[in-house]
Amino acid sequence: MPTTTNPTTAQLRCIEDHCRATFAITERLYTCPNCQGLLDVAYEFDKPLADEWKALFKARRTSDAEVDRSGVWRFRELLPFVNDTANIVTLNEGNTPIYTAPRSAEYAALDHLRFKHQGMNPTGSFKDNGMTTGLTQAKILGAKAVACASTGNTSASMAAYAARAGMRGVVFIPARQIAYGKLSQSLEYGSLVVEIEGNFDDAMKLVRDLAEETELYLLNSINPFRLEGQKAIAIEMLEQLHWLAPDWLVVPGGNLGNSSAIGKGLFEMRELGLIDRLPRLAVIQAEGASPLYEFMQSDDKTIFHPFAHPATLATAIKIGKPVSWKKALRALAWTNGVVERVSEQEIADAKAMIGRDGIGCEPASATTLAGIKKLVAAGVIKSDANIVAVLTGNVMKDPTYSIHYHTDQLTFNEADAEQIIKGNFANKGVRVAADKQAIRRLLEL
Ligand code: F0G
Repeated sequence: MPTTTNPTTAQLRCIEDHCRATFAITERLYTCPNCQGLLDVAYEFDKPLADEWKALFKARRTSDAEVDRSGVWRFRELLPFVNDTANIVTLNEGNTPIYTAPRSAEYAALDHLRFKHQGMNPTGSFKDNGMTTGLTQAKILGAKAVACASTGNTSASMAAYAARAGMRGVVFIPARQIAYGKLSQSLEYGSLVVEIEGNFDDAMKLVRDLAEETELYLLNSINPFRLEGQKAIAIEMLEQLHWLAPDWLVVPGGNLGNSSAIGKGLFEMRELGLIDRLPRLAVIQAEGASPLYEFMQSDDKTIFHPFAHPATLATAIKIGKPVSWKKALRALAWTNGVVERVSEQEIADAKAMIGRDGIGCEPASATTLAGIKKLVAAGVIKSDANIVAVLTGNVMKDPTYSIHYHTDQLTFNEADAEQIIKGNFANKGVRVAADKQAIRRLLEL
């Protein structure tokens, strides 16, 4: 089994049509120095015999080599920016399941629905797909310290991979605004946790400036090497579906890195002949943090209006100024995609439904089911459509949210108003004396 790819043809390339400048991947760049545009890692691929590649990807599943068993690096011919696989930093990420979800399907008035559960990654979110490639590039560049701003999952993942690589990790998080599960992970994995008095967008701006001025290597999704790994979410999904594209692929939208990465992966797979059509992408945002939705609705496509005060209990996607919005637009154009937004109540109920399928997820992930339900009701998605939704984070990331929902204590404070989220599908626990008869009466046994 070959463990190296051919000498890489990878370059950094500005995505702006008027620019398209290219740079060596050995340069430490996050945006285009000429026009500040976003950068892609672009390749001149060896034109594959698609069937040979598919066989190679499959054969690696039974290999003993660490890089072959990774659900990202197993597909390394599609992300060939690494010449020497000895540089790869991996925790056996990816390899996530696709579940059928009959109760969730019924809830959304669909015949069938499937979830690709990225919460089954080593640190419990899809970020691991991108951190394995991000930390690998950091190692290739000789970085000693890595940094990110985060609503919690990016930081948890970066902390784990930095520890793995023996690098210093520094994470910037909005104080008191990230779920405990995520905060505890960053502490456990040994990164320095810096709490910022401000929101995610403030933290993002700070860390971007610091990365320009210091040796900190930035590992937010503005770093195009992160997105190379996240492409593998789409690649692995297509492999699991025997390379037959579903009608719809549904993802939550926050900073919009994931929509961008999945769009690039789909586009490249079709260019290379691995698939013959693209699914339509549906990006779902929380109402209080939905600048992409508003942009798509507006007639003026020249200005993107950030949300100055993003608000949602789905803290993972509490983002008002998504850095990758232009790449997300490109993904929507390639896939004839749509953007929907959903309320706090819709997110909470959808999350409980996903739980009833025995699957579970964190709040941001449940935007997918809530959005699908709305798109079906609006006639955009047909009830017999073939749909895969990406659950981005594990149910154990945010236990406080779940417990509050199931005990009717979930409240959402926006501006001065407090909204009570109803536990429409709440599963209230009961407290009873430690007495067998009392329990039998309770259980009617
Ligand atoms: N779902 C979860 C669970 C997330 O953690 C995030 C983003 C998203 C969805 C949105 O993905 O940003 O690529 O559009 N979390 C980031 C973080 C921002 O810092 O953990 P996106």
